[in-house]
Amino acid sequence: MSQIRKVVIPVAGLGTRFLPATKAVPKEMLPVVDTPAIQYVVEEAVAAGLTDVLMITGRNKGAIEDHFDDVAELTAALEAKGDADRIARVRRSTELADVHFVRQGAPLGLGHAVGRAREHVGGEAFAVQLGDDLIDSANPLLPDMIATQEHLGGSVIALMEVPREQISLYGSAVVEPADPVPGTTFPVHRVTGLVEKPAPEEAPSTLAAIGRYVLHPAVFDVLDRTAPGHGGEIQLTDALATLAGMPASEGGGVHGVVFSGKRYDTGDRLDYLKAVVQLALERPDLGPPLREWLAEHLAE
Ligand code: G1P
Repeated sequence: MSQIRKVVIPVAGLGTRFLPATKAVPKEMLPVVDTPAIQYVVEEAVAAGLTDVLMITGRNKGAIEDHFDDVAELTAALEAKGDADRIARVRRSTELADVHFVRQGAPLGLGHAVGRAREHVGGEAFAVQLGDDLIDSANPLLPDMIATQEHLGGSVIALMEVPREQISLYGSAVVEPADPVPGTTFPVHRVTGLVEKPAPEEAPSTLAAIGRYVLHPAVFDVLDRTAPGHGGEIQLTDALATLAGMPASEGGGVHGVVFSGKRYDTGDRLDYLKAVVQLALERPDLGPPLREWLAEHLAE
């Protein structure tokens, strides 16, 4: 059984790609079918044994906190109607995990947001999930990353092959071969370098960092001395590049788990629509009629 229990989820981002929907509603609360995107992320964490959740939050994000609270008047109204099914659905987010919140304080970048978790995390390895990335539960990625961190130490990132023209949206990794980790499914590489959002012609590879990390607590000291990088922000990618060059005795070393399942960037409008359709198609109640309608609609 893994020792890693804590996960940090930065949710302070503005969600400008989804305006005007995100003018008053946090992007993490946009529904994917009938459940806010953030709940899928927490469900994924809990399925991997990560039940201590710390969200790094900011202005106008109160709806996320409300979502993980109990709502006595809502459950009372549903009880009066005898609607046990909806009561279970309403309670699910409250009972799912132990959710904590810390404010980021200032929008200084992803690295700064993760650094705000230091007090809560302490001296243990911990996971980070970015709320925009939705990973299909059919191919669990976090358990492999946790097993890799426990086997090799240091930090572990998730990588995915992307077309070269898209690499400028991601951190790009330089890798070397590494031995497979017992009991895991996805291939593992040793990461020797990382560059945040390079121009396609300058990217060292087309292996993109996707939003899942299992980090050694040495990352906190490294983040403290990481200068602003791409976009003038403190980048987690830059701290990981430093960790990749540090000795294991100081908490250094980075490995990459290469994910090949389905992943949606729910911060991107087209990917968001794909996630809604895909997940609705997988639902026993909605899937069959939606499939029928889609087939008819596309045939027109
Ligand atoms: C962040 C990271 C980037 C990573 C990406 C994955 O960028 O900085 O390295 O590749 O998430 O989704 P963002 O998408 O927040 O701009």
